[in-house]
Amino acid sequence: MKQTFATLLHSHINACMSLDRVMEGIEKPSYASQGDLAFPCFSLAKVKKKSPHHIALQLAGKIESPLFEKVVANGAYVNVFLNKRVVSERVMKTILKQEETYGSHSFGKRNTVTIDFSSPNIAKPFSMGHLRSTVIGNSLAHIAEKCGYRVIRINHLGDWGTQFGKLIVAYHRWGDESEVRADPIPQLMKLYVKFHEEANEDSSLEEEARQWFKKLEAGNQEAHRLWTWFKEESLQEFTKIYDLLGIHFDCHHGEAFYNDKMNETIDQLAKKGLITQSEGAEVVDLASFNLPPCLIRKSDGATLYATRDLTAAIYRQQKYKFTKALYVVGEEQRLHFQQVFAVLKQMGYEWAANMEHIPFGLILKNGKKMSTRKGKVVLLEDVIDEAFQLAKKMIEEKNPTLRNKLEIAKQVGVGAIIFQDLKNERQNNIEFSFKNMFTFTGATGPYVQYTYARACSVINKANVDSFKPAGLNDTYSWDVIKILLEFPPMIKSACIDNDPSKIAKYVLKLAQAFNKYYTHVQILADDDEQPDRLSLVKSVTIVLKEGLQLLGIQAPKEM
Ligand code: ARG
Repeated sequence: MKQTFATLLHSHINACMSLDRVMEGIEKPSYASQGDLAFPCFSLAKVKKKSPHHIALQLAGKIESPLFEKVVANGAYVNVFLNKRVVSERVMKTILKQEETYGSHSFGKRNTVTIDFSSPNIAKPFSMGHLRSTVIGNSLAHIAEKCGYRVIRINHLGDWGTQFGKLIVAYHRWGDESEVRADPIPQLMKLYVKFHEEANEDSSLEEEARQWFKKLEAGNQEAHRLWTWFKEESLQEFTKIYDLLGIHFDCHHGEAFYNDKMNETIDQLAKKGLITQSEGAEVVDLASFNLPPCLIRKSDGATLYATRDLTAAIYRQQKYKFTKALYVVGEEQRLHFQQVFAVLKQMGYEWAANMEHIPFGLILKNGKKMSTRKGKVVLLEDVIDEAFQLAKKMIEEKNPTLRNKLEIAKQVGVGAIIFQDLKNERQNNIEFSFKNMFTFTGATGPYVQYTYARACSVINKANVDSFKPAGLNDTYSWDVIKILLEFPPMIKSACIDNDPSKIAKYVLKLAQAFNKYYTHVQILADDDEQPDRLSLVKSVTIVLKEGLQLLGIQAPKEM
């Protein structure tokens, strides 16, 4: 609609303004009573040396389209009122034809984006922070695909680093094989916590841990055996969580994968003259970026998190030729990524300009950080299980005869957790509350899922299998139609801003408008407009389902 309006406007003023500028100028009027589209004439007025109202009047008189009911001058603006019947017919036909591809874009075509997300640490519980990364990253992956990108989902597992030296020491001193086998992550976590408690008393432990990590890096058999075992146990736990969330990765190379590739990175840095010595360690000076130096190799020869990220970036560029690389990692690692990107730029890699850290805030419980440290372990699996139990209870109350209760409870429980996260702009902290994520009236996943199921049941009752819309003219349907029209541009903007909350807010708005429609209109009344009303309901189901899918949430047909 906007494009049509812009093209028509442009045909009358093409000497003064490019089509793109006209497109950019078009707004939504402040009030629905002023129409659906508005074009301000201030800059044209300057060029033509006439009053903006005069210009608006002239243009309004010239613009005509079957899509427009009327075009008027309103002060300095040309306002368009869309023709509800014609436009709604078009929108519904488009959605019914395109189905789940409605809202897709092609601007990402022939481009690859790598998304580094989730990336939990081996031998530690999957934290709430990693949950945020997982949920946000997964949604960004869906959104990028919807916009045409080839997406590579990368789980950069934290499977290397000095903590493994600590864990090996702790296991040797206090560990018990059968206990670890029976309940791996909590037991390993306990050992890790105990190490820190004991190391406060006995500082020789830290040195011992460093030695063990060095042995691990040198390929020592015992060190390697334990590391492999801890890693396998952890992966099994993580896989359970990914299965529950319905998430997959294309690449599972953790930090350890880069062990035999880091020397090359360090050689390159040295050849380019970027390495300086600082107290026996090797660093890259980043003063020209106004950043502290990036530590590449410690005085004892051990490599660091940043060394592995540099190596991983070079590897990914070689392997995937990404046009964009996203890192969905908490706010606290901002400096780390600034440094990594800066070092790559110093190395002369132009592609480093296309890397982006996507930070997010904390998950709070009663205003405090939900922590997995200090032995107070909140296991994500338990959190998901609790959500599942609540969803099950809710279904038992509302719809005791439902088939597949367990499967649907899982979809609703997981949907509730994901939605609570994604409805907030990612930079904000979010308050985690089981109570708030399940209300049917609030801004929740179950509310949107329920609306979808409700719409599906209307279609089911009507028992039709073909939809032939001719257009609707009432205000309730128009409110829904206008939102359906916003779906494609909303997705584009969610992709450009890396912001899944736009999708979450959108599905909520659509669900609300639909529920209003459902309450006020007799959808199944037997009259001439029934096919149109059913087409509208069907269109809503298509868009709600696809919107939820982009968030990583499933849409059960019944609940
Ligand atoms: N494992 C890290 C952590 O838990 C996150 C890794 C993020 N990705 C990366 N390429 N650095 O803090």
